[in-house]
Parts: sequence; C-alpha cells; structure tokens
Amino acid sequence: MWGGRFGGGPSAIMQEINASIGFDRRLYREDIAGSKAHSAMLAKAGIITEADKDAIHKGLDQVQAEIEAGEMEYKPELEDIHMHVEARLRELVGDAGARLHTGRSRNDQVATDFRLWVRGAIDQLDVAYAGLLGAIVDEAEKHAGDVMPGFTHLQTAQPVTLGHHLMAYYEMLSRDRARLADCRKRVNENPLGAAALAGTSFPIDRHMTSEALGFDRPMANSLDAVSARDFALEFLSVLTISAVHLSRLADEIVLWASAAFRFLELSDGFSTGSSIMPQKRNPDAAELIRAKVGRIMGAQNGLMVVMKGLPLAYSKDMQEDKEPVFQAVDDFALCLAAMTGMMQDFRPNTSAMKKAAGQGFSTATDLADWLVRVLGLPFRDAHHVTGAVVKEAETRGIDLSALPLDAMQAVEPRITADVYDVLTVDASVMSRTSFGGTAPENVRAAVKAAKESLK
Ligand code: ARG
Repeated sequence: MWGGRFGGGPSAIMQEINASIGFDRRLYREDIAGSKAHSAMLAKAGIITEADKDAIHKGLDQVQAEIEAGEMEYKPELEDIHMHVEARLRELVGDAGARLHTGRSRNDQVATDFRLWVRGAIDQLDVAYAGLLGAIVDEAEKHAGDVMPGFTHLQTAQPVTLGHHLMAYYEMLSRDRARLADCRKRVNENPLGAAALAGTSFPIDRHMTSEALGFDRPMANSLDAVSARDFALEFLSVLTISAVHLSRLADEIVLWASAAFRFLELSDGFSTGSSIMPQKRNPDAAELIRAKVGRIMGAQNGLMVVMKGLPLAYSKDMQEDKEPVFQAVDDFALCLAAMTGMMQDFRPNTSAMKKAAGQGFSTATDLADWLVRVLGLPFRDAHHVTGAVVKEAETRGIDLSALPLDAMQAVEPRITADVYDVLTVDASVMSRTSFGGTAPENVRAAVKAAKESLK
C-alpha cells in the first residue's frame, strides 16, 4: 500500500507488532458500508465515475460475501481489515478499486468503522437491557407485597418488600440504559472525510456520507475527527458503571442463596454442582457476573492509559482501542443475558424472608414513630423510650410484638395496646407510603409505570 517509497519489506516482528487484523476483522461490515458511502459520494461529486462506483459496490458485495463464507485469506502483511478489503477489491475490480481511497485515509476510515461498530453494540445492548428490565419488573410485581429484611451495614434495619428491593435495581439499570442512549449521541458523529488529519482538497460532501451511514452530523474538526476516542472511553465508562450495578445484584444472589440466608433457591439452569460435595449447589453464574466487572473496568482503564498524553492527531497507539471495547462488549452482553436468565428463574423463599424480616427488632422505628404520632413525644425522646423497650425485649429473648403491654408501660406508662398494630412487619411495610417508600401499593404503582415505559 505504500511500496513507492520503500525498498526492503518490514521484518516479521514488525509485521507482528503492527498487525491488527487478528481483532479488527470484526469491523468488516462497517468497513464495507463506509467504503460504499464514500464511493457513492465520490461519484456524486464527480470525483470518480458512476461506472467506477458501480464496480466498487459490486466488488465490495463480493468481498463481504467471501468474508462471510470464511473465504477471506487473512495475512499479517496486510495489517488490518481496511487493507484486506481494499486489496481484495482491487484484485476483483482493478483500477476502480484503486480509486476508492481518493480523499480518504485509514485514519478517518478506522474512526468511522469503529464508531459504527460501537453504535451497533449500543443498539444491541439497549434491546438486552429491555429484556432484563422486563424480567426484573415481572418479579417485582409478583413480590410487591412480600416482606424481607431491609439492611444497612448488612444489619437488619427495617422491613421492606421484595418488590421494592428489586425495583431499586430497575432504577439503577434504567439509568445505565439512559446513560448508554446519551453516550450514543456522541458516538454517532461522522469522522469520514477528515482524511489523514487535515481534510482534503477534493470537493467531497461529508453531509452526504453522514446521512448514508446514519450519522447525525459530520465531525466539525478534522484533527479531532481522527484522534478522538472519548466516544469509546465514555462507552466503556457506561459499561463499567453498569457492570458495577450488576455485580451488586449478583452479590445479593450469592448471599441470598447461601445456607445462612436461605432467601433464594438457585435454579438448575444457573447453578452448578460440586464434584466432591454432592449436596452443593453453587451460584457460579452470579459469581462470574460479580467478577466480570474486573475485566470490563480493566478495559476502560487500559484504554484511558493508552489515550493519555497522545499528541494530535492519529498515533498508532490508537490501534489498541478496539480489543478492550470488543472484549468489554462481549463480557457485558453475556452478563446481561445471564442476569436476565437468573431473573426469569428467580425463586425466592418468601417465608424465610418474612421470618428474617421480623428478627433484629426491625419494627423498632415503627414503635418510635407511634410514640411521636400518638403520644406526641419529640422524636429524640421517642427514640430513647424505644431503645429501653428493645432492651427489655432483648433481655427476655423475644420480639417486640411479643413483649407484654405491662413491660412496655414500665418504660412509658402512656403506651396502649393499640401499639401492637404497628409492630408487625406487614403493618410496617404497609405504612411506608411516602413517595418512593416500600409500601406494596407504591411498588405496584412503580411496576405499572415501569411497564408503561418499557412498552
Ligand atoms: N490499523 C490501524 C488502526 O487500527 C488503522 C489506521 C492506520 N493508520 C495509519 N496511519 N497507520 O488504528
């Protein structure tokens, strides 16, 4: 491709370190689409003939068919997918193929292909998110009224509903999905026509190629167009945040499936056995989702470091942008699919959850609130009285709701039997009707709204 100036060829080691074909072959569809848009524009602008354009398009169709049939011969001396496609095109259609690269460079070409690929990945992930969110909402609906312990510091805090707990993940993952959609806007700008770095003297039409490739606009600055990779960094950052969210849900699945919790039964589909301990059922899928964030964040971190301190415009360092993105997308898509499967197979042990919800004096706050509401105590005083009542129940080894009235009245004589109405876990969650609170009616309303927005 640059033989004119060179006498000897590159050494084998040079070829090995230089080649990206081992991974960038995944860009073939985007590369061919970009070349079609570019050549159609060249013809429209009168830079190449219509006949050349037709030959190029026909040849590109054949190259694509050959790649898809597994017939493309990949050679490290052809470095990357762009040169493979072009070299094969020239074999097929001769001179017309040699005119394709007019007014273009691999620098704008690779940036274009990569943006198209990331955009396609975003669109596929968006569909996968919708599937996972739908599965979460279905489970939340089923368990809108089921009570479980809510934790802070992993200590029993107050009863919550399982539906509310699941809908917290709906909120987190919906934000991730929205972040992805927002990131797409900055991905979807067209670098093609920036050429090597400075633009071109040919009368190209960058609006035409933008429209043909579904980009929102041509990028405004040719130097930026070929050297910007923040679209990939942003994309990886969004995936990293979302992988963190998935790891939290995965961790709760691991915890809940443990013998100590027994909140969850793992399905056969998403667990494995042990080769030595017949009784074991391991939450491997959840553990691996929890772990994948390491690789995804590693990809993000790796590319950040590659880009740091690079002068404008293109540097070969930037060839190292694709592998981390491909790897992160593969990992993340698998995590979404596995989490969706686990949610569809979700089998909570609601009676164990309810039992645990009542332990640890989880309705103590309800007692304090009752003292405020009914007796008019200032909250801090109510907190103190409740502490003394809890201490008495603890000494007797019983729950608050089992503590006799006279024992409560020994702490605060104005307490009446009405107090027992607020001391059950069901009463506790039913009373949490403040906006965003855990009450079953709130969960049902949130589920309804979620289903509406997922339509
Ligand atoms: N394989 C290269 C990459 O992935 C394509 C661009 C090469 N440009 C150049 N001037 N050598 O970045």
